Amino acid sequence: MALIGTLFFIFTATCVGAQNVFATMQHIAESFGKHGQQSLLECVVQPTEEAAGLEIKIVSWKKEGVKKPLLVFPKSENTTLPTGYMFAEPSWNKKNMNVSLLITNTTMAHAGVYTCWVKINNADVSTTTNLKVTAKYSKPIIRSVPEKIPQNTDVALICDSDGGYPKGAIHWIVEHDTEWTKSSEMKAEPGPSGLFHLSSKLTLLRGSIFSKYTCVVVNASGGIEEETVFVIEDEPRPDVRAGQGGEKSDSTSKIVAPVVVIGSLIIGLMILLLYRRRRQNGHLTSNSSEEEEEEGLRNKDDGSSHV
Ligand SMILES: *[C@@H]1O[C@H](CO)[C@@H](O)[C@H](O)[C@H]1NC(C)=O
Ligand SMILES: *[C@@H]1O[C@H](CO)[C@@H](O)[C@H](O)[C@H]1NC(C)=O
Repeated sequence: MALIGTLFFIFTATCVGAQNVFATMQHIAESFGKHGQQSLLECVVQPTEEAAGLEIKIVSWKKEGVKKPLLVFPKSENTTLPTGYMFAEPSWNKKNMNVSLLITNTTMAHAGVYTCWVKINNADVSTTTNLKVTAKYSKPIIRSVPEKIPQNTDVALICDSDGGYPKGAIHWIVEHDTEWTKSSEMKAEPGPSGLFHLSSKLTLLRGSIFSKYTCVVVNASGGIEEETVFVIEDEPRPDVRAGQGGEKSDSTSKIVAPVVVIGSLIIGLMILLLYRRRRQNGHLTSNSSEEEEEEGLRNKDDGSSHV
């Protein structure tokens, strides 16, 4: 270690004051930004030698397809630069090797390839990076058509989510885990700012309407972004809109139900009692007739014996 340290010291010492400085930059192929937020495009000069008095002479940040630079150093008085671009390092100065670019409010239009060009002492270096911008979809909103769900009719549920990028998809989950996406129709339309609006229609056939539907927004890589649950009342009552009327019929049914149950129990018991009575009576009469018959026979016998 000591030997390496010494060698390194000798090496750097011999390079101090040298005019020929070589520098490199790390190449970051892709940078990622989010719509509506700041984006950082990294560009850091790495001199290959330790040298005193290293100074950045020129910086120029450009975007592919745009003629004028977005950010330059030194800034000449007769060049107007677009707003929204700055050095990422607060109070950057020419001794600072970190010339990263900060986009203050990212939009879809910022996506593209950027070049960072730097002249340091007598060397110049450059690198490019491709900025990819994503936008998060809004929490979906579900509505039913018709708005009030009648009994015995087909119904459609419509789920909308807005402002996402890249193109995502809407999935439907019925009850807790049954995927019903196949029964739905989805449209993805780009808006003026390039962000997508997703809309999906799920048709529910009468007789097979469940109580819980979940609309799930998934992004381009299949990750869940947002979801909303739509609950359909168990037994849609036609008189719900009447307000108190609905409650009235509800309370009447609450009274009617036990009355019916108790009433039928009483009637059942009465029938049972009557039946048992009749069976007993029947028994008695049959018994007595048998006795009568026997008596008759005896009488007959008596009669014959008498004859
Ligand atoms: C360059 O500066 C930015 C802003 O301060 C910082 O986020 C980034 O990490 C720096 N890069 C390096 C390699 O130091
Ligand atoms: C998709 O969503 C997942 C999970 O929320 C997230 O990790 C991923 O970065 C997102 N991908 C895109 C392209 O937005």
